[in-house]
Amino acid sequence: MLEEALAAVEAASDLQELQTVRVRYLGKKGELTRGLKRLGSLPPEERREAGRRINEDKQAVERAIQERRQALERDVLEAQLESERVDVTLPGTRFNAGGLHLLTRVTNRLLDVFTALGYEVAVGPELETDHYNFEALNFPEEHPARDEQDTFWTTDGRLLRTHTSPMQVRYMEMHKPPFKVVVPGKVFRNEAVDTTHEAQFHQLEALVVGERITMADLRGAIEEMAGALFGAGTRTRLQPSFFPFVEPGAEFAIHWTNPRSRRQEWLELGGCGMVHPNVFGAVGYRGVTGFAFGFGIERLALVPYGLPDIRAFYQGDLRVLRQFRGAL
Ligand code: PHE
Repeated sequence: MLEEALAAVEAASDLQELQTVRVRYLGKKGELTRGLKRLGSLPPEERREAGRRINEDKQAVERAIQERRQALERDVLEAQLESERVDVTLPGTRFNAGGLHLLTRVTNRLLDVFTALGYEVAVGPELETDHYNFEALNFPEEHPARDEQDTFWTTDGRLLRTHTSPMQVRYMEMHKPPFKVVVPGKVFRNEAVDTTHEAQFHQLEALVVGERITMADLRGAIEEMAGALFGAGTRTRLQPSFFPFVEPGAEFAIHWTNPRSRRQEWLELGGCGMVHPNVFGAVGYRGVTGFAFGFGIERLALVPYGLPDIRAFYQGDLRVLRQFRGAL
């Protein structure tokens, strides 16, 4: 009986089977338990010895079950560990992380430079009126300067802004001087598209108005920007030019070292000047002076990074996007 019970315990292949074996031999009606019940029918002199043997057998089976249970539980655990095993030497799954576009980075960088100098940041509408884009900026009716900025007109007589300068007027209408503000934004020109021209591009406009703002402040602001972008002491250049909304007006350039050729070059950036009295007149400002400048952000991103074609900014070519993911 003992041999048979121990063999059954050993043969139990899982915890449930082991429980069945236990009931069969040690349960209330189990085979070993029944032996104890039969003791009463034995002659008194044999009872003691028979009882002791049955109890020993029961204990032996109990121990065997205990051991078997531990072994089976270990198997279960091991099987679980095996099935949940992670091979840490397998190559990981790579996620295609997005990144900010080079133009966004350059813009953010510029905004950082100007907010550190105390400028506010403002944005304005891309769909504009003739009034803000031209009229209030002192472009006379029929003036050829209007044609220089080939304009996309809408059928209801509005237009896509050709520069961020209309925000000069909008900002002045909504604020009292003194102030310093920069305006990043998209602008549109109906031009033939080639490697250096797109019908859509971005500008950054700056406008500073106060009681005694001078040309020297304008020069200082451009030098601060140049220094922050290309290193302290970067030279800047202003050359006389014409824009209806500034007087005097100038074109400005930054002297920088082309990282490809290692040559020193002038990077022509944009226009600037002292706010024209007619522009102040259009917004009812009196007794103040101010300067403004504006330039194409693409140019600042294109030339220093050696991009050969402005169109690369808008084509979403992953090779271009990846190349500049970590730039700036
Ligand atoms: N808005 C002008 C342009 O797009 C640039 C400019 C801005 C010139 C501010 C003078 C002052 O060409």
